[in-house]
Amino acid sequence: MIAAVTSACVAGLAAETSVSDLADVADVSRRLGFSAGDRPLVVRAPNQGSLSARACAACHQAVYDDWQTTRHRVAWDNVVFLDGLGRELLPRCVHYHAPLLEQQREVGPLRGRRFTSPSTTGLLHEGITCAVCHVRDGRVLTTRPVTPDAATPMHPITVDKALQDPAFCASCHQFGFSNSDVLMQGIWSEWRAFHDGGGQGTCQSCHMPGGRHLFRGAWDHDLLRRSLQVTVTKAQVPELRSVDVGHHFPTGDLFRHLTVEVAANDNDFVDVARIGRVFGGVGVAKHVVEDTSLVPSVPCVVSLPANRTRWRVRYHYAEARHEDAGAVDAVVIAEGTIR
Ligand code: HEC
Ligand code: HEC
Ligand code: HEC
Ligand code: HEC
Repeated sequence: MIAAVTSACVAGLAAETSVSDLADVADVSRRLGFSAGDRPLVVRAPNQGSLSARACAACHQAVYDDWQTTRHRVAWDNVVFLDGLGRELLPRCVHYHAPLLEQQREVGPLRGRRFTSPSTTGLLHEGITCAVCHVRDGRVLTTRPVTPDAATPMHPITVDKALQDPAFCASCHQFGFSNSDVLMQGIWSEWRAFHDGGGQGTCQSCHMPGGRHLFRGAWDHDLLRRSLQVTVTKAQVPELRSVDVGHHFPTGDLFRHLTVEVAANDNDFVDVARIGRVFGGVGVAKHVVEDTSLVPSVPCVVSLPANRTRWRVRYHYAEARHEDAGAVDAVVIAEGTIR
C-alpha cells in the first residue's frame, strides 16, 4: 500500500533516441541473426559438435564456471519469467529467453500450456547459452584473431568486433511491447544518454570486467547495495542517487522498482515513495504513466512524514502479487534512523 507519493524524483520519460542510433542497433542485431523477438535463432555448431555449453566447457572451463552463476544461464529456469509467460503465452518471450531453434523445439507448442516448474535438462535449461552469443554458421565469433599452435584442437573462428558493441547487448535488452511503440526495456537508450553525458563504460566493461562472464545485475544483493547511495540531509530528508550504474536504476524488467519506507516502531514500515516505471493501457494504447527511476547523477529527494524513527529502501523484482505468492522476496538495500 502506497501511503502517499511524496517523491520529488522527476526522471522524465525514456531518453530520446535518434532513428540513426537505433538503425545501428538493428544493423548489428540483424547481422548476428537476432530478430527482435520475431523468430528463433538458427545456428550450426562448430566441428559438427553440440550446441551445449558443456561442449565449450571441455576447453573453456573457467568461462563456463562464471557463466553457470549468471541470470543468462537461468533465463528460462526462473519463476518470475515462467509466471509471466504463463499469463501471456507469447512466442516472442520464448525467442528472447530461449533463442535457439533447438531450445524452441524443447519448449513445444505454447497454446494451452502452463509452465509451473523450471525444466532441468536439455539446452532449454541453459537459457542464454554460449552458442546464442558466439556460434554462427559452424564458426565461433571472437573479438580478436587467435592462432594457437597447429597441434591444439580448436574450432573455426570469425572475428566480429560487434561483440564488444553495446548494440550487441541491445539486441535483447532494448525492445518494445508487442503492438505498441512503448519500450518494455530501454537499457540501451538509457546507456546512450549516460554515455553522451560523459559517463564512462560500456555494457561489456561494467558487466564483463576483464572479459569475465559474470553479468552481475540486480540479483547480486551486494552490487545492489553498492549501487545506491542515500544521504540524509540536516533537515532529515533522504537524497537517493545511483552509483556507477550506466543506465536508469532500477531498469530492465518492467516490474522492477524500489520502495522508500518509514516506520515509527521496529516493524510497521509503510511506503512513502515508489521509484520505477508505472505502465497504463493495453496493446496499442500501452503507455508510461510515470517514470521515477533514478537517472545517473541526478539526485532524488524524498520527503518523509513526521514522527517516524526509521527508514529503509527495498528493491522489488516483481509486483506485490508475486511477493505475496512467495515467488520472490524484496530485498532491503539501504536503511537508517531518523533523529
Ligand atoms: C577442443 C577445444 C575447444 C572447444 C570444444 C571450444 N573451444 Fe573455443 N577455443 C579453443 C582454443 C584452443 C582457442 C584459442 C586459444 C584461446 O584463446 O583459448 C579458442 C578460442 C575461443 C574464443 C576466442 C578467445 C579469445 O581469447 O579471444 C572464443 C570466444 C571461444 N573459443 C569460444 C568457444 C565456444 C563458445 C565454444 C563452444 C561452442 C568453444 N569455444 C569450444 C578451443 C576450444
Ligand atoms: C550474453 C552473451 C555471451 C554469452 C552467453 C557468452 N559469451 Fe563469451 N563473450 C561475450 C562477449 C561480449 C565477449 C567479449 C568480451 C570483451 O571483449 O569485452 C566474450 C568473450 C569470450 C571469450 C574470450 C574472452 C576470454 O575470457 O578470454 C571466450 C573464450 C568466451 N567468450 C567463451 C564463452 C563460453 C565458453 C561461453 C559459455 C559458457 C560464453 N562465452 C558465453 C558474450 C557472451
Ligand atoms: C557504468 C557501469 C554500467 C554500464 C555502462 C552498464 N551497466 Fe548494467 N548495471 C550496472 C550496475 C551497477 C547494475 C546493478 C544495479 C541495477 O540493477 O541497476 C546494472 C544492472 C543491469 C541489469 C539488471 C537490471 C535489472 O534489474 O533487470 C541489466 C539487464 C543490465 N545492467 C544491462 C546492461 C546493458 C545491456 C548495458 C549496455 C546498454 C549496461 N547494463 C550498461 C552497471 C552498468
Ligand atoms: C539473446 C538475448 C540476450 C543477449 C544477446 C544478452 N542478454 Fe543479457 N539477459 C537476457 C535474458 C533473457 C536475461 C535474463 C532475465 C531474467 O532474469 O529473466 C538477461 C540477463 C542479464 C543480466 C542480469 C540481469 C539481472 O536481473 O541481474 C545482465 C547484467 C545482462 N543480461 C547483461 C547483458 C550484457 C552486458 C549483454 C551483452 C554483452 C547481454 N546481456 C546480452 C538476454 C540477453
